[in-house]
Formats: sequence, C-alpha cells, structure tokens
Amino acid sequence: MAKKRTRRAGPSSTHRSEPIESTSQDDPTRNSVYSHTKRHRWLTTFFIILPAISILIYRQSYYAATTVIDADKTYVYQRGLVKTDLTYREVLNENSRVSENISRRNFGNPVLAYITPWNSKGYDLAKKFRSKITHLSPVWYELKNEGSKLILHGRHNADRGWISDIRTKGSALILPRVVLEATPVELLKKKRLREKAINLIIKECKKMEYDGIVLESWSRWVAYGILHNSDLRNMALQFIKQLGEAMHAVRLEGNDKKNLQLVYVIGPPRTDKLQEHDFGPEELQALYDAVDGFSLMTYDHSSPYNPGPNAPLKWIRSTLHFLVGAGSKGRRSAEKIFVGINFYGNDFVLSGGLGGGPIISHEYLSVLEQHKPVIQWEENSAEHFFLYSDNKHVQHAVFYPTLMSLAMRLEEALSWGAGISIWEVGQGLEYFFDIL
Ligand SMILES: *[C@@H]1O[C@H](CO)[C@@H](O)[C@H](O)[C@H]1NC(C)=O
Repeated sequence: MAKKRTRRAGPSSTHRSEPIESTSQDDPTRNSVYSHTKRHRWLTTFFIILPAISILIYRQSYYAATTVIDADKTYVYQRGLVKTDLTYREVLNENSRVSENISRRNFGNPVLAYITPWNSKGYDLAKKFRSKITHLSPVWYELKNEGSKLILHGRHNADRGWISDIRTKGSALILPRVVLEATPVELLKKKRLREKAINLIIKECKKMEYDGIVLESWSRWVAYGILHNSDLRNMALQFIKQLGEAMHAVRLEGNDKKNLQLVYVIGPPRTDKLQEHDFGPEELQALYDAVDGFSLMTYDHSSPYNPGPNAPLKWIRSTLHFLVGAGSKGRRSAEKIFVGINFYGNDFVLSGGLGGGPIISHEYLSVLEQHKPVIQWEENSAEHFFLYSDNKHVQHAVFYPTLMSLAMRLEEALSWGAGISIWEVGQGLEYFFDIL
C-alpha cells in the first residue's frame, strides 16, 4: 500500500496538465508575442487597478453573500472564517480545524471526490470525511491498445484495504476513473472492439465490486482530432450510450435495486464560439438518459501563459448556462452535472519570464508562512489571491481556493440543483471539508 502512494511534489494530476490535452488556444509556442502582450496588459489591469476597486465594492456587500449554507452551524462559519477579508494568519491557524461532528453534511447535493494514487493525503481525507462524499473516484484505470488487443490497465492501483474501510462505514459510491487511451477510430468503428471495451469495464466492476466508473474519453477524442468528422462523432456518442445502457443492465449482487453507474467527464468550451470538438448542449441531451452524471471540469481557466484566477465564478455560471440553458428545463438537466471545483491552486511567476504552475496545500501554507502576504479578494472572479516576491526578487501571484471562494461555488451549484466534483481532495486544506 505504501509503495504506490509515494508523494509527488506538485499536482501533475490536474486533468489539463496531462500532456494530451493542451489545445491550440493555450499553446504558448503558437502565438507567444500575442500572449506576451496580452499577458502584460492583463497583469497591469488585474493586479494594479482591479483589486483596489473590487475590495471597496466588496466590503459593502459581502455580508449578504455569506448567509446561504447553514451559516450558524459549522465550525468555520461560527469562527467567521468564510469571508473576503481573510488574513494569512487565520489560514495558518485554522486550516486543520473542523466541526466536532464531521459526519454532518452541509451541502445537500451530490459530492464527487477524485483521489489520485500519487497523493496519499487524498485517501486519508476521503476516509475521514467519507460521510460528506457521495461519489468517490480514484484515478486508477486506463483502457489501452496492446497490439490488436484491448487491455484495461490499473488493477495494481486499486487499494482493497481502503475500499473496504470506505464500504464498512460509509455510503459513498466507488466509481474509479477510466481513461480511454485506445486508438479511437478503430475502437469506434469495430463492433467487436466496442463490445470488448464494454465487457472489460463491466467485468472489472463486478470483480472489484465497484459501483460503476467515471469515464474520461472526450478529451482524448479531441486530441485525436476525430470529432470533426460527424460520422465518428455520432459513433462516439453511440459508444458512450451503449456503455451506459450495458452498465445499467447489470444488477449488483446483494441489492436488487442498484445497477452499475456511469459518470462522464466533460470539459467547458474554451472559447466564446462553440468549436466542432466542444462538448455542447446537444451532446449533453444525447447522452442524458444513458449516463448517471457529467463531471464538468470547470477549472484551469488560467495558465502560466495567461495567469489569473483558476475558475472565475462568472465563467462557471456561463458554462452551466451554455450547457443546460435557462429556466426549469435547464435546472432539470443540471441535476446530473457535478460542477468542477479545484482544491489546488496556482503560483504564477509574474516577472522575469513565464513560469509557475499548480500548488497544493502544503506548498500554499509554506508560502504563507514564509512571506506573510496580504490576501486580497478579487470580486470579478470571486477568488482570493496574493502577491509576493521570492528571494530572487521575482514577483509571484498565488491563487488558491479559500472557504469564501468555495462557499460561493457551492451556492452556485445549489442554485442550479447541481452537485460538485472536486479535483482533488488530497490537494486541499482540511477545513474545506467543513463546508461540504
Ligand atoms: C452528527 O451528525 C449526524 C448527521 O446530522 C447525526 O446523525 C449525528 O447524531 C451527529 N452526531 C453527534 C455526536 O452529534
């Protein structure tokens, strides 16, 4: 068990940092001059003008914004920590304190939590706070080609001891993530291979007594460039439907009401105009009945080439609006969406060249300790950030979630009737769980 839980320094685990997913619009080599100018302009406006204004505005309105989720109940609310005018000292003092009763849920909608084999903290936190989690997705499997054969890799990651701990004292469904790495054209065109893929997944679920899987394939199909072809695009949707239907037809032993579940990973559109390869409202409707949920990756809006907030609230809102529309029909569709929430942050380099990248809890805390920064609230994105100079006098900007930024995203999800999906629980601070 210890062997496969070796720690890795940074979260090379965020979906977008997996190599295959970089798209042309954030490819730095394509238009570096443009990005540089744009970046420069952004830095000037963002870090000099906006914070001053937004803090003034926000000071007047934040009390109204903090009252929604059981405000007088959990520890972090009682201590008044869910607020915009946060200090580094408060974060350092309080980040591991939570309510006495850690079983009580404060966020009533589904909570899907991702866990990665390279961050053991995720396993521990998921176990401790399992009552607050409805769906657990350990990142364990890949479906690959080996010669002409299809192979499901990843059983060696599965931690049976941990699974049985979760099972004995909790009710969270265990849905390991499976990434479809197999060459798509062949897979989608050949009935034999499609059936084989579905059988491999179902057999593994039965053998390991999983409740289903979280499937990630759209990003891979985008990378292979197959979604521009409308025939292949239809075959891709058909394949997911076929998988969902096959999984739903499997009754789990010991409980004749339950069947295997399929949650499908989708990304937000990256530009204002819908691209051919984007997963849009039509795809959502096409798959709606065949899947049990959509894990929507609403994070990584910024990057070292375009530093800024990780997941601006307005962008999350507009993504939901785009996918399900407005009104009561939209609200009904949003019930199957797990709105993505990042538990990691970014430490961007602002001077002397591009750089920086994701940071996780212990890195964040150590920067707070060392630099004692002034944490600022940025109203427009509804995220906290701070600036600091390292010992080589290089300027950095750090965006990392806070109780306030999380609370506002939970409210947003609730207002849509949606759940949330957290990437990745081991990268967050312990007191984040107090508002879940
Ligand atoms: C903790 O909260 C749960 C859920 O609300 C409740 O059932 C349980 O009785 C509480 N435990 C204690 C010790 O108060």
